[in-house]
Amino acid sequence: MTIAEAINTGEAQLAPTGVEDPRLNAELLLSHVLGRKPLELRLAREVGIPLQSLGRYRALLDSRATRRPLQYVTGLQEFMGLTFEVTPEALVPRLDTEVLVEALLARARQLPDAPIIADIGTGTAVIALTLAHSLPHARLYATDCSPAALALARRNADTLGLAARVSFACGDLLAPLHHWRLEGQVHVLAANLPYIPSGEIDQLAPEVSVHEPRLALDGGPDGLRLIRRLLQGAPAFLRPGGAVGLEIGHDQAEAVCAVLSGADWRDVEVLKDLDGNDRVVMARRPTQQ
Ligand SMILES: C[S@@+](CC[C@H](N)C(=O)[O-])C[C@H]1O[C@@H](n2cnc3c(N)ncnc32)[C@H](O)[C@@H]1O
Repeated sequence: MTIAEAINTGEAQLAPTGVEDPRLNAELLLSHVLGRKPLELRLAREVGIPLQSLGRYRALLDSRATRRPLQYVTGLQEFMGLTFEVTPEALVPRLDTEVLVEALLARARQLPDAPIIADIGTGTAVIALTLAHSLPHARLYATDCSPAALALARRNADTLGLAARVSFACGDLLAPLHHWRLEGQVHVLAANLPYIPSGEIDQLAPEVSVHEPRLALDGGPDGLRLIRRLLQGAPAFLRPGGAVGLEIGHDQAEAVCAVLSGADWRDVEVLKDLDGNDRVVMARRPTQQ
């Protein structure tokens, strides 16, 4: 079978399952199996596929046809130029999260000395490890309450050669920061916590509602249960002038800003994602703790 035929077959298998953009999915799966870029496949349409690769491609198509996210099928996701291992134990890193990482990088680069940064609810550790990679003098601390997600996070740190500068611990939100004695020490506190209202999860695409961990999605009745708890505890760990950066749902900026202004957080800023939706809130530690 040629590359063109395999992509047509893959598209035909995926289209009836409701997978968004079935042709692109087929191309990406074949490109993963053959170890070649999608563009290279388009330039080699009439080249034959070895039988073994064809078998592997068919297995991946079968898996994707169950609406498993593409990244769980391939086991990989690119994020800001780095490649992360991805498994069903953790959320698939999203493009939206790059807005948060860019904002955190801008904040950290203004700091005079080697910054101490904490990432709460680290999942694949995409935030902590991208920051560690881009800020060679930063010290990172990352927490998650899922031991399985943390095991994946540690593997990603090892693979990317960043394990020496990123510490991981399992626990509820900020609790592990006590263990590291980080009270009043943190320059920047980052969090992409679950923020989907519990009642909305089942209405999402099966890739999310069936296959991604509830623990990574469910933000309680209004989506803000964990964000509120985090903001309550965060000032105790931030240095004077220290910042918090949160990813939020597209309709949560007003509610999160109300929580921040009620507790005297300063320099509150809302940033938009590439689709023009509110996606990130940044703020500085309140003077009163
Ligand atoms: C939305 S995912 C984000 C993962 C990753 N930071 C990212 O941006 O792709 C939220 C993460 O928070 C973790 N989490 C949920 N509740 C938590 C809690 N109470 N304490 C610590 N982590 C929690 C989940 O296990 C999950 O890995």
